[in-house]
Amino acid sequence: METLNKATMEEMLSTPNRLLVGAGPGNLDPRVARALTLPLLSHLDPSFWEIMDSTADLLRQVFRTENDATLLLPATGMAGMETMFANLIEPGDKALIGHSGHFGSLMVEVASRQGAEVTEIQGPEDGAIDEEEFIEKLDSDDFAVAATVHAETATGTFQSVQKVAAACQERDTLFLMDAVTSLGGMDVRVDDWGVDACYSGTQKCLSIPSGGSPITFGERAMRKVRNRKQKPCTYYFDIQELMRYWSGGMEKSYHHTAAIPLVYATHEALRVLLEEGLENAFERHIRCSKLLLEEIEPLGFKPFAQPEYRLPMITAVTMPEGLNAKDVRTRLREEWNIETDLGLGEIAEKILRIGLKGYSAQPRNAAYVTLALSTMVGAA
Ligand SMILES: Cc1ncc(COP(=O)(O)O)c(C=O)c1O
Repeated sequence: METLNKATMEEMLSTPNRLLVGAGPGNLDPRVARALTLPLLSHLDPSFWEIMDSTADLLRQVFRTENDATLLLPATGMAGMETMFANLIEPGDKALIGHSGHFGSLMVEVASRQGAEVTEIQGPEDGAIDEEEFIEKLDSDDFAVAATVHAETATGTFQSVQKVAAACQERDTLFLMDAVTSLGGMDVRVDDWGVDACYSGTQKCLSIPSGGSPITFGERAMRKVRNRKQKPCTYYFDIQELMRYWSGGMEKSYHHTAAIPLVYATHEALRVLLEEGLENAFERHIRCSKLLLEEIEPLGFKPFAQPEYRLPMITAVTMPEGLNAKDVRTRLREEWNIETDLGLGEIAEKILRIGLKGYSAQPRNAAYVTLALSTMVGAA
């Protein structure tokens, strides 16, 4: 087993070379790894500002939006969630939050801490909320915002949102969406669907190290921000303050010291993705998850999510008779150098989550994981 030991630490830092196919970070495209090592620029260097502007343009293409307020937050996906609610909730606002798993529940927590009066609508953990029911609930009160998670990483389930988003557009309700796991791996259309604010994370289907959260706010959302009675109770995540630094052109002013290499990596990763083409990338994710399931289901690894709600980038499976998920995960890491994840919350030890996403979504990785799992069946 490759682990870090004291001797290695005292020499040069080295880490095991894992195949990262869990729910967290994936492996990096060599072009992205190279971008991380480019010479540092200052966060106030006009040459860096050009890279920022270009990164924001690439983000707009991936979010499929024209939103001016589109940027890379220098913090992880949860920062995207905090930013969205901190700016778009005023104390006492009514919020409708739809959830079917761990990250949807976190939305309830984060929105409540901003002073929202939250109404929850809960879907099954192996499925999603029926959109008609979501809309019925929307009509039961005067909601300032409605929010949900597009791709629930905790269970590998997908929530369709288009009807709910359209219904919010017809009402005075902002529609807010978590696209941490979906962006770059499946269709996300911020403008066409009428998503008022949306955030993602760098480490999922975008295949960038963790530490960044792409975020976009539309005009309806920015109007709400401008008309707030009080400023958001955060300076760092105040979207208007952030935009003073991220606004296009050479009029930028200091807000924070950008995570320079992460911006380089984001720029390169988005170029890699757009060169492949979004539709081709989505199709690759579907192909890899199909390939994996076709091979491991006959071995007894059963998909956790109902067929119509399965995510292509996170395949959650229960174990065959005689195996438990915790041991399988450990053996995959120790014997095969493969990183996977257990579930989150109550179902934690019932499921194994295999994330063929971003650069890691390659048929050869599906085949390697299959081979590793096949050696454990019947030989437990
Ligand atoms: C759907 C979803 N939302 C939010 C987050 C939080 O992102 P982070 O762990 O990068 O803060 C995650 C992380 O896995 C996620 O899967």
